[in-house]
Amino acid sequence: MLQSINLGVMLLDSDCRVVFWNDFMAIHSGKDSEAVLGRLLFELFPELPQRWIQKKIDGVFALQNLAFTSWQQRPHLFNFSGSRPVTGQAELMYQNCTFSPVMEAAGCVKYVCLTISDTSEVATQQLELEHLNRLLQAEKSEQARLIRKLEDAQAQLLQSEKMAAIGQLAAGVAHEINNPVGYVYSNFSSLEGYVADLFKLIEAYRAAAAEQPDGAFHARLEQANQALEYDYLRDDMADLVRESRQGLERVKQIVQDLRDFSHIDSGDWQMVDLHKGLDSTLNVIWNEIKFKAEVVKNYAELPLVQCLGSQLNQVFMNLLINAAHAIDRQGYIWLETGVRDDWVFVRVRDDGSGIAPEHLTRLFEPFFTTKPVGQGTGLGLSVSYSIVAKHHGRLEVASELGKGTTFTVWLPQRQPEKDAKSA
Ligand SMILES: Nc1ncnc2c1ncn2[C@@H]1O[C@H](COP(=O)(O)OP(=O)(O)OP(=O)(O)O)[C@@H](O)[C@H]1O
Ligand SMILES: [Mg+2]
Repeated sequence: MLQSINLGVMLLDSDCRVVFWNDFMAIHSGKDSEAVLGRLLFELFPELPQRWIQKKIDGVFALQNLAFTSWQQRPHLFNFSGSRPVTGQAELMYQNCTFSPVMEAAGCVKYVCLTISDTSEVATQQLELEHLNRLLQAEKSEQARLIRKLEDAQAQLLQSEKMAAIGQLAAGVAHEINNPVGYVYSNFSSLEGYVADLFKLIEAYRAAAAEQPDGAFHARLEQANQALEYDYLRDDMADLVRESRQGLERVKQIVQDLRDFSHIDSGDWQMVDLHKGLDSTLNVIWNEIKFKAEVVKNYAELPLVQCLGSQLNQVFMNLLINAAHAIDRQGYIWLETGVRDDWVFVRVRDDGSGIAPEHLTRLFEPFFTTKPVGQGTGLGLSVSYSIVAKHHGRLEVASELGKGTTFTVWLPQRQPEKDAKSA
């Protein structure tokens, strides 16, 4: 039975000499019994890890315990070729080995029986499964990454649509106000002229009345003048008209800024004066900034830039509001523009809280915010980044904690032909 069993079986004495050797061993090692009996194991198989096996065998002699090694730990202890090559090529046999004591008398080990079982089939199947599993895992994490990317893209899209909708609303309101303000303003100019004429007329009546000899007539006139406070009314009227005209001019300016800010008349690529966009944006968000910061402008001579004006204004708006938010009490925001070769830049610098170095790399991630819930969604910079990227530009940041932050938007003056048409 031992000879013909489908397991390698050999007996070793305490010197590691072979005293028994079955057919399985003979077939797979190519050495038959006669050639190996009485010879040292490590002479027959110089490839064996001698120290490791010796330790196992010594352990079995000393402790009379079974020792075991599986194919996962030592896949090919003996250099036997596999009985079932999966790929058609001869492969090394995977083996489980057992070192068991063969007792001579109770408590006395005479031999160590080494059995070797061929686990190639199980091993190759398991290895194949592990390989497939790894592939699946990789695919799964790739899918998770794509889903995250998709979610981010969707969030950005929503935010930019929201901002575009606000822009359109502003532009719509501005457009509606523009008409009535237009005719109130023009009527007002006429009214101003008429009022001046009316006063001239009254003065003429007064002068004519002064030439009348009738005292009672004078007294009646004077009484009416005093009762109606004519002198005060005449002076105040001039002030009222002047102030109202200033008010109207401001309304007109705000309406114009709203229109410029949202660029409703130009949904596509246009040659834009960035300073106009910056100024109108500043005016629109002035309420958020004026109590926090003094804005210092340092504008260079800029060429017209081919861009999507309303979208760039969203970028400027977010950078300016971020700067204002970073200022705790009272500070400065420097707004600088300039030209380098074919590029223009718009720089927003503040002397606010600055950004911690570990946050710098995460700024442009969607939903990254350090602001309390309800104050920031963390989408401003990620949307700004995409808008600048759409313009083939760059958005750079430099910051020092406690000192302040500088954001620089770099834009090429012209867009590549096909992009400018398709957008
Ligand atoms: N000028 C700045 N100074 C200091 N920190 C800044 C500045 N600009 C941005 N940050 C930091 O970057 C974070 C992300 O900015 P981002 O504009 O993307 O989102 P948010 O301002 O928090 O929210 P949202 O703009 O969506 O309302 C901010 O929460 C803030 O911590
Ligand atoms: Mg922001």
